[in-house]
Amino acid sequence: MSVHKKAIKKITTHQLQEMKNRGEKISMLTAYDFSMAKLVDASGVDVILVGDSASNVMAGHETTLPITLDQMIYHASAVVRAVERALVIVDIPFGSYQGNSSEALRSSIRIMKESGGHAVKMEGGAEIQESVKRILSAGIPVMGHLGLTPQSIYKFGTYTVRAKEEEEAEKLIEDAKILEECGCFSIVLEKIPAQLAKRVAEEVNIPIIGIGAGPYVDGQVLVLHDLLGITTEFKPRFLRQYARLDTIITEAIGKYVGDVKNVDFPNEDEMY
Ligand code: KIV
Repeated sequence: MSVHKKAIKKITTHQLQEMKNRGEKISMLTAYDFSMAKLVDASGVDVILVGDSASNVMAGHETTLPITLDQMIYHASAVVRAVERALVIVDIPFGSYQGNSSEALRSSIRIMKESGGHAVKMEGGAEIQESVKRILSAGIPVMGHLGLTPQSIYKFGTYTVRAKEEEEAEKLIEDAKILEECGCFSIVLEKIPAQLAKRVAEEVNIPIIGIGAGPYVDGQVLVLHDLLGITTEFKPRFLRQYARLDTIITEAIGKYVGDVKNVDFPNEDEMY
């Protein structure tokens, strides 16, 4: 018996590198559940990040710190079930890799095995190099994350632009080179000056994906709910809102409530 599979070309880390090499920009967005991931994937996004921003967006926490490995796996497995084309990268949450490289490897293996994700992402530079190498030795692709690293918010105290000073900028470039040498397939740069991000994208060969890092990088990432205007309290300068779904959703639900109260719903066609 032959097995018929739809001929959909899946995005791989190798293809992301090819995109950088030929100057094609990479599009990346977050998703945390099946229904949204299906729409994001169908829209042609190259990479879906199951970000630990799920802690804010899905669970309503103030920071990304509380989300657990089990919760990340739950979100990621729902996303993976929906996706046919995009590369799915899963954040390793706070407290699941900082201890040592064995812990980092164990958490990554759980993510890959239990969610079916295609790669993991970790925050940090030189301090995570041993973990990156160890995870890679198990055949798991790793994305780095530098600049504003939300898991360290209590160390920095603010969400302001990072690496504006020379010393921090040089350290960031150094960290990016270390992550490349360790074998990371890509790096996210969050909220840093555009000219610094440009330097990083020029000085390292792997794809650099920016969020609040200007246009001179190899691709862009945003949080889905921010782009769609579902979360409206958060509106940093780097965010472009492509829709105001908050209004569309509340108006639609408001109409439903009105119809129920007025016994307008259900009508004759909507009953058995
Ligand atoms: O968790 C997340 O959504 C992220 C992006 C902001 C890059 O790490």
